[in-house]
Amino acid sequence: MNEDDKMKVLIVNGPNLNMLGIREKQLYGNRTYDDLLKCIDKWAGELDIRADVFQSNHEGAIVDRIQQAYGAYDGIIINPAAYTHTSIAILDALKAVEIPCCEVHLTDISGREPFRQISYAGMACEQHFTGMGFEGYHEALRWFAGEK
Ligand code: DQA
Repeated sequence: MNEDDKMKVLIVNGPNLNMLGIREKQLYGNRTYDDLLKCIDKWAGELDIRADVFQSNHEGAIVDRIQQAYGAYDGIIINPAAYTHTSIAILDALKAVEIPCCEVHLTDISGREPFRQISYAGMACEQHFTGMGFEGYHEALRWFAGEK
């Protein structure tokens, strides 16, 4: 497919996801952030999606990136990591740009500590994939590709 005709999806990953493969392996597994990027690249290619991936440890940088997506992307897949449970600014940015959004979490946040039970960003998302590890990003891409 011509590059210009492809669906454009922005994938936003929040703080400490760059530490995959090092951080709390019992929860997040042995695979690294680089491994995740390779998987996303492969899945996006198979689904004819142009996926741009952004990771930041800074809330304001994530808000800035979401704002820049306005008018430029067909969808957003977001794992705000710890900001999921605290950031009304990210929720407001997602609402502001009015781009269809899907929330992903590697772990099942509903089965974890009480402070992880609330997802602010999730309130702006039409779809949610949690507790599936890397596969959650695959499901999110498939959802945007209309395969679900
Ligand atoms: C996470 C869950 C969050 O509670 C946590 O702060 C993370 C990762 C997940 O993908 O399971 O950093 O978003």
